[in-house]
Amino acid sequence: MTAWPPELEGRAQALAGRYPERRSAVGPLLYLAMKHDGGLTAAGVRRVAELTGLTPAQVQGVASFYTMYQEAPGRYLISVCTSISCHLLGGEAVLAAVEEETGVAGGETDGERLFTVEHVECLGACGGAPALQVNYETVEGVTPEAAQRLCRRLREQRPAVIRSDALQEEFGGRPAFDWGPGEAAGAVAPVPAFEPYGTAEAGP
Ligand code: FES
Repeated sequence: MTAWPPELEGRAQALAGRYPERRSAVGPLLYLAMKHDGGLTAAGVRRVAELTGLTPAQVQGVASFYTMYQEAPGRYLISVCTSISCHLLGGEAVLAAVEEETGVAGGETDGERLFTVEHVECLGACGGAPALQVNYETVEGVTPEAAQRLCRRLREQRPAVIRSDALQEEFGGRPAFDWGPGEAAGAVAPVPAFEPYGTAEAGP
C-alpha cells in the first residue's frame, strides 16, 4: 500500500466514505490522484484501486474512458470545440491557430509541459460558437486571432489562475447569453474544478 500524504489521504477517505459503495468514488478519487501527481500515473491508479477495492485494471478502464483524466497535461490545457455549431462558425480555424501559436498539435503536449492542445466535442456553449476552454474555463465567440493572442498571453504571463470571465472580456466575442454575476474564482490546474479543488479566489 502506498498511502498519500495525510491531508490528501484524509480527503480521499472522506470522499470514499460518502458513497454506499466505495467504488462509486472512483471518479473524484482519480482527480485527487491527478492533482497529487500532476497527471494520471500508474501509482495513482493503484492508490485509487486500493481505496475503492477495485483492481488497477478496473480503475484504468474508467480513467481511459473519460478524456478529462490525462497522463501528463501541460499547465494550460486548451480545448477547442470542433462540434457542429463551432465547426460551422470557424472552430477548425481556431484550432489551427492555437496549434500554430503553441507549436502543439491536437492531442499533444509540448516538451516544457506548458500547453496541451486538444479538440473536443460540444462544450455546451453552441450559442456563442466558436468556443474553447483553458483549463475548463470557457471562452465564447473566439476568433483565430484572439485565440493566438490568448496563447501568447498565457506563455508570457503564465497566470496562476484562469478565470472564464476575464478571458471572455479580453479574448471572447458574443457569448450565448448573459451568464449572470461574474465569478472571482477560477481554475488553478488542468484538472476540472471539483469542490474547492481547482479554484482560487484571485485571478489575473
Ligand atoms: S458545438 Fe461547440 S460549444 Fe456546442
